[in-house]
Amino acid sequence: MSFDLVFFGGTGDLTWRKLMPALFQAFRHGKLPEGGRILGVSRQDLDDTAYRAWLKERFQDVEGAKRPSDEEFARFAELVHYLPTDLSKPEDYRRLGAWLAERRADVVVMYLATGPDLFQTICAQLGAAGLNGPNVRVVLEKPLGHDLASAQAINRVVRSVFTEEQAFRIDHYLGKPSVQNLMALRFGNALFEPLWRRECISNIQITLAETIGVGTRGEFYSRTGALRDMIQNHALQLLTMVAMEPPSRNDADAIRDEKLKVLRSLKPFSGESVARDTVRGQYRGGNGDGKPAMGFLEEARVPPASRCETFVALRTEVQNWRWAGVPFYLRTGKRLAEREAHIVVNFRPAPHSIFPGVNPPNKLVIKLQPEDGLELHLLAAKGGASTEALAPVFLDLDFDKAFAENRVGAYERLLLDAIAGRLNLFVRSDEQEEAWRWVEPIIEAWRDDDHPPRPYSAGTWGPAAASALVARDGNAWFEEQ
Ligand code: BG6
Repeated sequence: MSFDLVFFGGTGDLTWRKLMPALFQAFRHGKLPEGGRILGVSRQDLDDTAYRAWLKERFQDVEGAKRPSDEEFARFAELVHYLPTDLSKPEDYRRLGAWLAERRADVVVMYLATGPDLFQTICAQLGAAGLNGPNVRVVLEKPLGHDLASAQAINRVVRSVFTEEQAFRIDHYLGKPSVQNLMALRFGNALFEPLWRRECISNIQITLAETIGVGTRGEFYSRTGALRDMIQNHALQLLTMVAMEPPSRNDADAIRDEKLKVLRSLKPFSGESVARDTVRGQYRGGNGDGKPAMGFLEEARVPPASRCETFVALRTEVQNWRWAGVPFYLRTGKRLAEREAHIVVNFRPAPHSIFPGVNPPNKLVIKLQPEDGLELHLLAAKGGASTEALAPVFLDLDFDKAFAENRVGAYERLLLDAIAGRLNLFVRSDEQEEAWRWVEPIIEAWRDDDHPPRPYSAGTWGPAAASALVARDGNAWFEEQ
């Protein structure tokens, strides 16, 4: 199958930091379908040779083992081309059309790796130039709007030119092998399904913790905040995968229908419940990854009195028969104590204990990163001579070790899926809009709240109020258990 992959924003950060290295890995693994061409388009006046040289220099920043040798780069670069393009000029799209028509690939992927403010222009121009035929797919990068209305506006434009089946909305968390494992765990194994319900589970925690600060993204981040940056998309996508009903088939719409139902079942927020069930924080100076780190307000290009949150913890419920009354706690933040993403399923305690001592209930820890694995926490008798208390132990499964050679990164997987037309790991517009609908009352209540976000020191697990939020239900975050 021949393909042409066009990167709008061809000289942008996303293209050289993530997309090109991911494509190179796919090429190196022999996964890129034969006969592909990769085209960078952007305003800069370059030709194929200059673009390849520019890219080669950028590849020096790619981490060690993933960096190509000169010989590997030269082979990869043969696929790479460049077309200087002014995105507002119809004649430039006609030139793109002529380039594509040179050989009429089976599949054309238009990857919009630009700011969302350009989506409307690009889609409209592609439509006007007739570059939206049935073999064309459009990939959209986040942020897909900053609230429901702006997300709907983007979706309207995309829909006026492409069908839903042609639109691939990226949430890169869905491309992570660990996240696909969540589906495998739940729907490839019969073991957990009978336990996966309110009768057996006391609460579920989803934590996406980072040790990095906002770095060079101060301006973007202070307009965005952790709720929009991580909760509306990544954390909610994970929640849907934990809470969804088994889909009847492994196909995109069967899966996305079930995920949508979860989003629609989330307990809606009101002004009052936002005050009770959410905590927002902002980091102050402290420890960042073992080094002294500045506070958010001192970061470059952050407005002096910014009230943007760099931490969110919240409590919600999925209001259906399976989950009624089970708290789902979501938490994310920058400059936290560890870089760690995990889902913790806390089971209910044994109904009647015959053993001495306090016996912590079982839990299943789904580790998403940095390790990709599973821990099942159990109690066991140590087998000593005297009658003794039970000891906690856990079964520890490391998928990176188990499947060492076959693992591919998130962007590599998603790019290959976009080329192959597999929509399973992409977000449908109704899911995305429903997620905005749910977070919007939080955005509004925080906007109208006179209190600034709660300060926390860099290198900690966020404001104490986040622990209190969970403690109110008699629960504790994983690292406090
Ligand atoms: C992005 C956010 O979507 O995800 C970033 O915009 C965040 O702020 C990143 O750092 C985290 O992704 P990962 O894959 O490093 O966990």
